[in-house]
Amino acid sequence: MQFSIKKNISEKDNVAVILNKTSNLPNGLLNQDETTYVKSALKNQKNTWIEVNQYARKVFLFQPDYKKEENQLNEAMRKAGASLGSLLNTQKIKTVALEESSLNRYLAEGLALGNYQYLRYFSKKNKKENTLNKVQWVGASKKLIDELNAVSSAVYLSRDLVNTPVWDLNATQLANSAVKAGKEFGFDVEVFDKKKIEALKMGGLLAVNKGSIDPPTFIIMEHKPKNAKNKKPIVLVGKGVVYDTGGLSLKPSTSMDEMKSDMGGSAAVIGTMSAAAKENLPLHIIGLVPATDNRPGGNAVTPGDVITISDGTTVEVMNTDAEGRLILADALHYAKKYSPEMVIDLATLTGAAVMAIGRYGIVAMGTAPDKAFSKLSKSGEEVYERIVRFPFWEEYDELLKSPIADLKNIGTREGGAITAGKFLANFTDYPYIHLDIAGPAFINATDGYLQKGGTGVGVRLLYNFLKNY
Ligand code: BES
Ligand code: MN
Ligand code: ZN
Repeated sequence: MQFSIKKNISEKDNVAVILNKTSNLPNGLLNQDETTYVKSALKNQKNTWIEVNQYARKVFLFQPDYKKEENQLNEAMRKAGASLGSLLNTQKIKTVALEESSLNRYLAEGLALGNYQYLRYFSKKNKKENTLNKVQWVGASKKLIDELNAVSSAVYLSRDLVNTPVWDLNATQLANSAVKAGKEFGFDVEVFDKKKIEALKMGGLLAVNKGSIDPPTFIIMEHKPKNAKNKKPIVLVGKGVVYDTGGLSLKPSTSMDEMKSDMGGSAAVIGTMSAAAKENLPLHIIGLVPATDNRPGGNAVTPGDVITISDGTTVEVMNTDAEGRLILADALHYAKKYSPEMVIDLATLTGAAVMAIGRYGIVAMGTAPDKAFSKLSKSGEEVYERIVRFPFWEEYDELLKSPIADLKNIGTREGGAITAGKFLANFTDYPYIHLDIAGPAFINATDGYLQKGGTGVGVRLLYNFLKNY
């Protein structure tokens, strides 16, 4: 989708109008009859676009509910953007102009995010492609348009990665995608292969990879502008399980079909690096992704095995389906070498997080100062990728004690999202935030500007957080 600045709207431009508080209709747009029609439609219809067909073009009008709180109103406008987009696409319309409004940025965001399609595997792609490809915008600034383009293409990238099945996205291909994104958006990427991972003794990543035919990778991304405000970097870590069968603790087939999305955390990190680099945020940011599939093949790690993480911690593997924490342990330990200011990980880590709050939010926890959590929470409300902070009390540590090793990899079913986070905190020595995105990373039905499939959750949250850092 292409956005551009519009000077003035002509009589042939399809136009979308967000009405102001007093529902004043803009001058010169509608004739007497049309005005009468729109006024009566406004009385009967809430939260829908009113459409006026003027033969040479169409006029779409929307009355927002200004009683809503600011973030809710903005979100309603994103959703209005998505519904305008589908209205335009079903009518095979290619371009639309937005009449000036302070809410346009949210409408435009909804138009952009809602216009996403994953068509890779359709043999007749062009037939399915959305027609809408150009949005012109009165009163926009170049800065705003550039940012919208950067962030929405980063979200698109993240969604594409999640939607791509493991057949076309194994750990090596995920690493290649990161390299490609680095070139396109402007950040550095280094990839460790299996030999290097062995040399670093990343026992968590290697254990999970043992049942697989494909080698693991460890991806390091860096955005380091000259004008970076932070001396110590901010490190983002993303779970890159390109497919999670559960390993020998095999998942039932009903809960396996979506597990190509188990690299959603890595997609969020790659997407965030892309947006941050493209917008050249004045921050030193590092992205780390441990990547592998989790399979029950030949020599797979077994329940009962004891493995050693790269920091020397031994772990009794009680359940091979709790694999995310094993690969993240190595990455979180690796992050120490940067003496980071803060580390945030994103992971589709537990079904327990989904059980607790469903798909509407991100489960957050950790050791970072309250202030960091409240800033992240504020970003979450703004971009509508909201976080809920869970407790991180020391009592939960008890549940991870093993009779034969330093730790075991599962706690009780109760509080399962928290014990997973607690497990991870063992490998940190810096301010740390863990984000469990198992709920919102992948959805089963299109909802507003989020299409069925990968949502790209985390990209807009972290971009906003970093921008306001
Ligand atoms: N990738 C899953 C978590 C998951 C579940 C993500 C549902 C998205 C949707 C993770 O690796 C996993 O299997 N976790 C186990 C942990 C358990 C064995 C302690 C779970 O949550 O059941
Ligand atoms: Mn698993
Ligand atoms: Zn998993």
